[in-house]
Amino acid sequence: MKRRLGFSTRAIHGDPEARPDWAPVVAPLYQSSTFTNPIGSTAEVLYTRYGNNPNQIAIAKRLAALEGAEAAIFVASGMGAIALSHLAVLRPGDHLLSSEWIYGGVQRLFAQEFGRFGIDVSFVSPLEARTWKRALKKNTRAIFVETPTNPLVRVLDLEPIASLCKTEGLALLVDSTFATPINFRPLEHGADVVIHSATKYLNGHTDVIAGAVAGTESVIEEVRKLMQVWGQAIDPMAAWLIERGMKTLAVRVERQNATTLHLAQWCSKQPQFGAVHHPGLPTHPDHEDARRLMGGFGGMLAVELKGGARAAERFLRALTIAAHAPSLGGVETLVSEPRLTSHAMLTPEARARAGIPDGFLRFSIGLEDPDDIIADFAQALAQL
Ligand SMILES: Cc1ncc(COP(=O)(O)O)c(C=O)c1O
Repeated sequence: MKRRLGFSTRAIHGDPEARPDWAPVVAPLYQSSTFTNPIGSTAEVLYTRYGNNPNQIAIAKRLAALEGAEAAIFVASGMGAIALSHLAVLRPGDHLLSSEWIYGGVQRLFAQEFGRFGIDVSFVSPLEARTWKRALKKNTRAIFVETPTNPLVRVLDLEPIASLCKTEGLALLVDSTFATPINFRPLEHGADVVIHSATKYLNGHTDVIAGAVAGTESVIEEVRKLMQVWGQAIDPMAAWLIERGMKTLAVRVERQNATTLHLAQWCSKQPQFGAVHHPGLPTHPDHEDARRLMGGFGGMLAVELKGGARAAERFLRALTIAAHAPSLGGVETLVSEPRLTSHAMLTPEARARAGIPDGFLRFSIGLEDPDDIIADFAQALAQL
């Protein structure tokens, strides 16, 4: 039996093959929209919008190997990956049941756009299997969840949801952007389709917009067909950069796991913070599930400054390492304020009810030296 490779080896080599002499160690960039095709051939033409450029194919194989999926595909953005994977499994007249704890862009896609395709969407609080069951309709065809969630880093146990999906014959689609295949692999827990914003950890260098879907050959084939006609292929340069980024995925995520846990423990001792949200802390509501289900607690952390919005603003202005920017999963520490970004459409009261009071800051912890990040937090807190 073939030995199962570790995650770093899979991320660097995919399925390693003997190399011919004089071959480049790093795959070349095929920055070409089209390729010469054999005259008289009936095979599908090689054309970059079709997703069959070698740079596009290389990263798809890498991700499939990491997620333990039959197949995978990269597309032009995380939003593109979510849209196409749902269009691949849903038909006009179908109902989609979605967790309400999802990225705001996806919420908008479901609530404002899916109706025009005849797809009805309802949102439920994802914690209890009973809630899902109660919300099922005769025409429900799929369930969508994001785990860990933004910005409270809640960790969902997929197994009860997956078992409901099996009994009811529904597809389970999971946005696993925050977890990465290093910390959690949804297919091992009963999901059918895994989705990533590859813009985040998979690329890891904050220089590419991309998305990815992994699952069975048949669902990925369906996504591929949609990608071709909806014009969602990833650019070869972006694919090449992602291939480079993915080679260090395991070491980046392991380091981000360690630094973030250390920083979260430090933050929880600072009197200026009212609450610290990180699944590695015993105070986090999903700590036990996260320990049981995940390989690491991840690089996301949220803090609540007791002084509210004004204190948050002063703290942000005093930080020198963390860049005030949306997005996450890169080598640089980033911070954002959900009050003004993902949750701007809610009233302050509704935000507070959702667990995001004013003064709440979300951090994506990067690869800087942990002591430097802590020293920067300390000096910024001292200025409040
Ligand atoms: C969890 C999650 N899913 C999907 C997306 C959308 O990804 P993209 O910006 O690559 O389209 C984002 C962020 O933008 C995200 O945080």
